[in-house]
This record gives sequence, C-alpha cells and structure tokens, in this order.
Amino acid sequence: MPAVVIVGLQWGDEGKGKIVDFISENADLAVRYQGGANAGHTVVLNGKIYRFHHLPVAALRGKHVCLASGMVIDPVKLLKELESLNREGIQPKLTIDGKAHIVLDIHKMLDEAEESSGKGVGTTRMGIGPTYTYKSARVGIRFSDLVEIESIRSRLEKSITMTKALLSDVYNIKVELDVEHVTQFLHEVASKLGKYVGDVARLVNETLDKGGFVILEGAQGTLLDIDHGTYPFVTSSNTTAGAACNSVGIGPKRVDEIIGVTKAYTTRVGKGPFPTEMEEPVASIVREKGKEYGTTTGRPRRVGWFDAVAVRYSIMLNGVTSVAVTKVDCLTNIDPVKVCLAYEVNGQEVKTFPSSLHVLEKCKPVYVELEGWRELSEKEKVEALKGNFDALPKQLRDYIEFLEKLLVCPIKYVSIGAERREIVIR
Ligand code: GDP
Ligand code: IMO
Ligand code: MG
Repeated sequence: MPAVVIVGLQWGDEGKGKIVDFISENADLAVRYQGGANAGHTVVLNGKIYRFHHLPVAALRGKHVCLASGMVIDPVKLLKELESLNREGIQPKLTIDGKAHIVLDIHKMLDEAEESSGKGVGTTRMGIGPTYTYKSARVGIRFSDLVEIESIRSRLEKSITMTKALLSDVYNIKVELDVEHVTQFLHEVASKLGKYVGDVARLVNETLDKGGFVILEGAQGTLLDIDHGTYPFVTSSNTTAGAACNSVGIGPKRVDEIIGVTKAYTTRVGKGPFPTEMEEPVASIVREKGKEYGTTTGRPRRVGWFDAVAVRYSIMLNGVTSVAVTKVDCLTNIDPVKVCLAYEVNGQEVKTFPSSLHVLEKCKPVYVELEGWRELSEKEKVEALKGNFDALPKQLRDYIEFLEKLLVCPIKYVSIGAERREIVIR
C-alpha cells in the first residue's frame, strides 16, 4: 500500500480537508507534515462542521494521527483541538514527533507586533514565522526538550533576549519576559502532551515497510511555499510534496501518489499579487456562494478566476499524479465563467509562472470565457455521486475537461458540495 501526499495547488484553502477526509477511510496512519495552527482544514459530516488546525483530519475517523517534525505546534491550541474532539466521543491515537518545534508566546508576540505595525504580509498571527525563524537560528524549543527542561535554559535565555531586543528595537514595545515563566509553561506542556511525544519518522517508515497506507496531509498551498511561492507574501515553511519527505523523514521514493487540490476558481487570504482577482460584483457573489471566510481567522478571502498558469506551475513543482477540483457548485449560475490561459506582461504573452514577484505584479491575465452551468437536480446529483460523470450538466463537464487539457494531468475527483459524500470520482 502506498504513501499518498495531498497538497494545495493555490494559495491555501483549496478544500484539502474535504479531499483528505474522503480518501483516508482505509488509512493506517495520517500525518500532517508542516505549518501549524495557521492551517484550517474543514470536514462537513451530516451537516456538522469540523475544523482542524494541527491534527490530520483523519482523526475524525479515529485513525492514528501524527504531527511530523516539520511542524510548529501551539500546545495550547492543540490541547483545545483534542478536547473538542474528545467532546464528540473521538479519541484518536496521537504521536507528536520529538523534533517538532513548540510555538511559544514570544513567537506569537513577534508575529502580532509585525502585523500590528501595518507592514506585515497579513499572517494568521499564530506565531508561525517567528517559530520557524528561531528554529533556523537554532534557538527553538522542540518537543523532545520537554523531558529535560532545565538543560535548555541557556537556549531559552537567548530566545528571550532576542525577543526583547526585537520587540524594543524594531517595534518600540517594552515587555517583561522571564525565563522562569516560560519554563513553568513548558512543564505544564510536558505534563499534558509529553505522553504523545514519539518518533514519527520511524513510525511512518515501519508502517510503509509493513505495506500500510499512509496519508501525508499538506497545509497551506504551493503558492505560499517559502521558496517557490510568491515571496515574501508566503508562509514560512515548504509546503510542497517534496517537503513532505523531509518534514516527515522518509525517502522520496516512498511516495506513490501526489494528489493536488484546487478550487474551480481561486482564493487567497492576506496580501500579495493575485493576477486573476475578480472584479465586483462577481467577487462578492462567489465569496458568498463559497462562504469564503478564513477557517482560522474569519477574514474574508480574496476571490479570483481559475488561473491555469499558476496551477500548472504547482503541478510541476509537486509532481502531481492526479488533481481534485473542489467547489464547482459555488460557480453555479455564473455566466460566463472565465479561465486564465496565459499572462500578458510588457506586451508579451507568457504561459509559465514568473519566478520574480516584480514580473508577476505586472502580469495581466489572458482569459477565455466559458459557458456557465446551472444547479444540479437531485436526480443528477444522485447519479453523479455514483461515479457517473456524464450525469453532470454538459457545461460543467466541458469546464472540467477543459481544465484537464490545460493542466495536462488527470482530474480524478470533482467535489460538488461540502459534505463528505459529495464527490464525483472519475
Ligand atoms: P483547506 O484549508 O484546503 O482544507 O480548505 P478550508 O477547509 O479552509 O476551506 C474550504 C472550504 O470549502 C470549507 O469550508 C469546506 O467545507 C468547503 N468545501 C470543500 N469542498 C467543497 C465543495 O465542493 N463545495 C462546497 N460548497 N464547499 C466545499
Ligand atoms: P490552509 O492549510 C490560506 C497565509 C496567510 C498569510 C501567509 C502567511 O488552511 O490552506 P502565516 O500565518 O502562515 O505566517 O501567514 O499565509 N496562510 C494561509 N492562507 N490557507 C492557509 O492554510 C494558510 N496558512 C497561512 O493568510 O497570507
Ligand atoms: Mg484552510
């Protein structure tokens, strides 16, 4: 059985949660590989909405879930997530890799200070960037440190001195921070989460050795990748399928399938270039139809047309083997529907995603207009959900087939509603 990576092909919120949930029915192990509480993955089951920020969504199916070493984990938020699942009678087995980093208040203060200064990129304010910064600066605190908290005192002192200096010199904020307070907090984390700390890399490798099925759940999206995304308007981790291997601790040859998830249109939260951003009033119409408000922060998402240039770039970067297109129902009764085929920049047409942000900022989308589709009747829906693609309205089928040609990658899943079962497999 394989290791499957699920990765977002746009700027996040593509509906990864829905797709991961759907395919995780037979999983032996489910792993989140990067990011932290900045993610918000939604599953809708029998009308009830479940939101996941750290935990892989397969927790809902009671699967053994893992948080890999590439993650930055907010212990307070993770405990809340676990408690809310427990209240639903779900107690998933959890393993947190000892090499994963802990998000502390100092990291959240720095994120907040930067965003409050008005010069930030529009982060989720969850302390993600500063925690990865401190990791790279080798002053981060890892879950494996929880067994010997006294031994990391000098690292903590350095972290606190750095934070005070940054807050005071860059943001003119004076705070009292002391190492005893952070140490006390870490003791509390150890008492509550220490029992979950283990070796996810070994667990995943051994499960694969035994022929198990492992789901590797990505967060954010390819265009938010710290290297390949629209830097500096990105998150602070590598979000791509390649990163899954490093973040988890498996060799690249262990991954069998890479499912790329994209909306039938595009959204983005936070600042940064967005060539296909829609004009009003259609932007508001799609935002309301798609309930495009952040799962983590509640911010209205910016909305745009499907950008084939960007998604083709993401397919290339990830080596995607099949695509899932979500939220086609949110474009019903919109006519025409536009798709961006290329960009025009300095009078020239380009079909590849520019690596320079300065160029991307100048790109104007070249659109084709396609006929829109109406809502599905109940009968069409029932037929389509049996796997009969031909039961969908012709214009919708044409749209999917058109995207498939543009992307040069099979579209295997078409999601036609938020509920778990509302998916057409081709
Ligand atoms: P993720 O971060 O990629 O997991 O995506 P989010 O959960 O943040 O946002 C996707 C939103 O779209 C969630 O509210 C989902 O419940 C919803 N969703 C996913 N697929 C569909 C779909 O096909 N149709 C509709 N109407 N909603 C969907
Ligand atoms: P999921 O997993 C959409 C965006 C933020 C901001 C930038 C940096 O639900 O798809 P950060 O807090 O990571 O330092 O913010 O990245 N961002 C997301 N946008 N979906 C997400 O996650 C995101 N996680 C971060 O809005 O622009
Ligand atoms: Mg989300």
